[in-house]
Amino acid sequence: MMESIWILFVTAFFFSALLLYRNRFRIKSKYRNQLPLGTLGWPFIGETIEFVSCAYTDRPEIFMDKRRGMYGKVFKSHIFGSPTIVSTDAEVNKFILQSDAKVFVPSYPKSLTELMGESSILLINGSLQRRIHGLIGAFFKSQQLKAQITRDMQKYVQESMANWREEHPIYIQDQTKNIAFQVLVKALISLDPGEEMELLKKHFQEFISGLVSLPINLPGTKLYRSLQAKKKMVKLVHKIIQAKTNRNISNSKVPEDVVDVLLNDASGQLTDNLIADNMIDMMIPGEDSVPILMTLTIKYLSECPAALQQLREENMKLKKLKDQAGEPLRWSDYLTLSFTQSVIMETLRIGNIISGVMRKAMKDVEIKGYLIPKGWCAFAYFRSVHLDESNYDWPHQFNPWRWQDKDISSCNFTPFGGGQRLCPGLDLARLEASIFLHHLVTQFRWFAEEDTIVNFPTVRMKRRMAIWVRRVDSSAAMVKKV
Ligand code: HEM
Repeated sequence: MMESIWILFVTAFFFSALLLYRNRFRIKSKYRNQLPLGTLGWPFIGETIEFVSCAYTDRPEIFMDKRRGMYGKVFKSHIFGSPTIVSTDAEVNKFILQSDAKVFVPSYPKSLTELMGESSILLINGSLQRRIHGLIGAFFKSQQLKAQITRDMQKYVQESMANWREEHPIYIQDQTKNIAFQVLVKALISLDPGEEMELLKKHFQEFISGLVSLPINLPGTKLYRSLQAKKKMVKLVHKIIQAKTNRNISNSKVPEDVVDVLLNDASGQLTDNLIADNMIDMMIPGEDSVPILMTLTIKYLSECPAALQQLREENMKLKKLKDQAGEPLRWSDYLTLSFTQSVIMETLRIGNIISGVMRKAMKDVEIKGYLIPKGWCAFAYFRSVHLDESNYDWPHQFNPWRWQDKDISSCNFTPFGGGQRLCPGLDLARLEASIFLHHLVTQFRWFAEEDTIVNFPTVRMKRRMAIWVRRVDSSAAMVKKV
């Protein structure tokens, strides 16, 4: 008896849940004919499981390729709890990126929005987003910041490389993470390496570990611990803001860091709380991406001796010139290294550090005849565009030479996004990678251990990219086999 009541209860629950789901996402009849082809998959989970299982492989774009073959470059699906129009079409992606907040707003998992807070630059829209974005973008482009980044980066890279030993493997992923974090924190809040920096790093690791977690904020949960870590970091930034305000240095003509830039803003919209929160939120896109760019570059170069040789020759030539003239390298010197820049671009194309961006439609939108209904997500998937053979010959081959006379501004290449949310850190990322590469190839030869790229939830190396190094002056020959 008990058993049949139980079965009845479970069946009733299942059907009401199904009904609820159908009502929520039932495609209105007016949309049915205009929606792109595709399937919404299973109730609740949609196609998320297949998407995630592909994302974990070395070819995450397989999920897209399969559907592209059946439905075309733009198709409908249901991933991460939302009906979604997936675009692997460069022009549709461009439209999505260029649209303002009346049409699309950013869409992130719930745990991420909880951690970032309402005033985070990654979430806000309209005039406030444009204001903060403009201020940061202009500062990151300034010659003065580039000069400072160059000095800091050179110092941190040299300090780090001075400790490299030939008898131990060097984990490039860890080394670059450490260096890039120091550079980023210096640019944001002028904090120098030391005890406070170490504490900040520790809290930041705790903070980001909750970015992909269950959205449950109760003592003991990952999200709770993350939020606590963020509070401690925000407190530190408040202390820095207070010290700047007391010394009145924030009103100096030349801002030293991003905090100064935002404190100097005369609009009155940027409160101390907003500034402090945003300093931490800005570490999210900045902290991981640059080290991964450097790490992937080393991976691809290790597998392509001809490219490594040309890169080394280019950098050696510059070093010799500068040494002879007795001049230090400036930021502009690094950016004149055309083959080095091609190597970085090719790494961005093939590595796809950010595979795409998610937006939510604020109204029904029609792009190139495809409908994106209000409330649905649009997933502009850059990875498929970057690996499309109609855009790039032999797209899976690392070939930096392809960039030597190619138009970079094309909408087929969007590693830093585009439109109003174009990454403000793009120049910094390229500069930091150039400096790291220069010092590595002019001082060392290396042998890379076998490693593979993991693509989900973020891009990283499975075994932290271990290399065995030899200082160039001690031996020009290739190094010991592991
Ligand atoms: C290789 C390195 C990097 C890559 C591939 C990258 C990629 C991206 C992409 C694709 C976006 C657009 C997101 C969207 O449209 O929703 C973005 C936004 C952003 N990036 Fe980067 N990024 C990198 C480095 C950095 C660095 C070093 C910083 C420095 C703090 C930074 C700060 C930001 C910020 C603040 C935004 C949000 C802009 C806004 O919404 O107004 N990024 N990044």
